[in-house]
Amino acid sequence: MQVVFFVRNALESAYNHDLLLKMQRCLRVIVVKKNKITIVGAGNVGATAAFIASQKQLAEIVLLDIVDGLAEGKALDMSQAGSVNGYDADVTGTCDWSKAAGSDIVIITSGMPRKPGMSRDDLLAKNVQIIKSVSESTANYCPDSFVIVVANPLDAMVYAAAKVTGFAKNKVMGMAGVLDSARLGCFIAKELNVSTEDIKCVLMGGHGDDMVPLVRFTTISGVPISELLSAETIDKLVKRTRNGGIEIVNLLGYSGYYAPAAGAVKMADAILKDKKELLSCCAYCDSEYKAGGYFVGSPAVLGKKGVEKIVELDLNKQEAEQFAVSLAHVKELSVKVDGIL
Ligand code: 2OP
Repeated sequence: MQVVFFVRNALESAYNHDLLLKMQRCLRVIVVKKNKITIVGAGNVGATAAFIASQKQLAEIVLLDIVDGLAEGKALDMSQAGSVNGYDADVTGTCDWSKAAGSDIVIITSGMPRKPGMSRDDLLAKNVQIIKSVSESTANYCPDSFVIVVANPLDAMVYAAAKVTGFAKNKVMGMAGVLDSARLGCFIAKELNVSTEDIKCVLMGGHGDDMVPLVRFTTISGVPISELLSAETIDKLVKRTRNGGIEIVNLLGYSGYYAPAAGAVKMADAILKDKKELLSCCAYCDSEYKAGGYFVGSPAVLGKKGVEKIVELDLNKQEAEQFAVSLAHVKELSVKVDGIL
């Protein structure tokens, strides 16, 4: 018989120590440290990410916000949702960074969201200051964590978080490609009346209007979409994907959050479970795609070492040109970050 013990901290380990010794005499006992995710920002994206992760019982979750009571209230509400549906939601809301100590993953959602008429780039000056402060706390309290950034302009904010934390490049990444490729998948599924489950998309470049959905690598259960959709329809769906963020901003008056939150949790899940999952995400590329040391959307394998590998596709001329345009934009914003930090 095998018993798995989840321990959260040294105190709990010590408390359980006697019990463990007694049990070890008669059973095979394995002690497993429970994973811990801190989500910074209890706004729409952060709170939704906490809720999704708690429903999956992925880890102990700490939801952090500077507004007194906000994270605490939402965490309490989530715990009660667990009680409704019969699962134990392990979520703590707090303003206190010390509660984040020992986190395996820090998801940074804090920052100003877009309003109608704004581009993601318009948020740079304000959000870089927020990312700076959050990244300093991350480095102080969670020095061994992986960092997943969700704030915009995404690629530049990942660059800022990497610069301020000083973490190894494989440990800092951004959630955008998961969202953008899911949007394309959703539009294709609706167009063809097939399940999103069967659709696999690859998307590169920055999280902006110049993102590069790679139609050639987009399949439905292995069938290239060009076999099932006309070139005009594919162009229409690609255009809608590029404008996927602002379409929601124009409807709501603020940014979407269900899909971005789901994307961040998907990345955390791939790392914590060492899934070696190939996902489009914002990752450090140097010689890869001749990016020259910037964080930009690319197909990456995520596992227990964070970004374990960038998969280098043989881009055709048109794809390479589109990626070059998007990369130039990402570099321009990252240089602006350098000017501020
Ligand atoms: C979006 O595309 C929030 O940038 C995010 O919806």
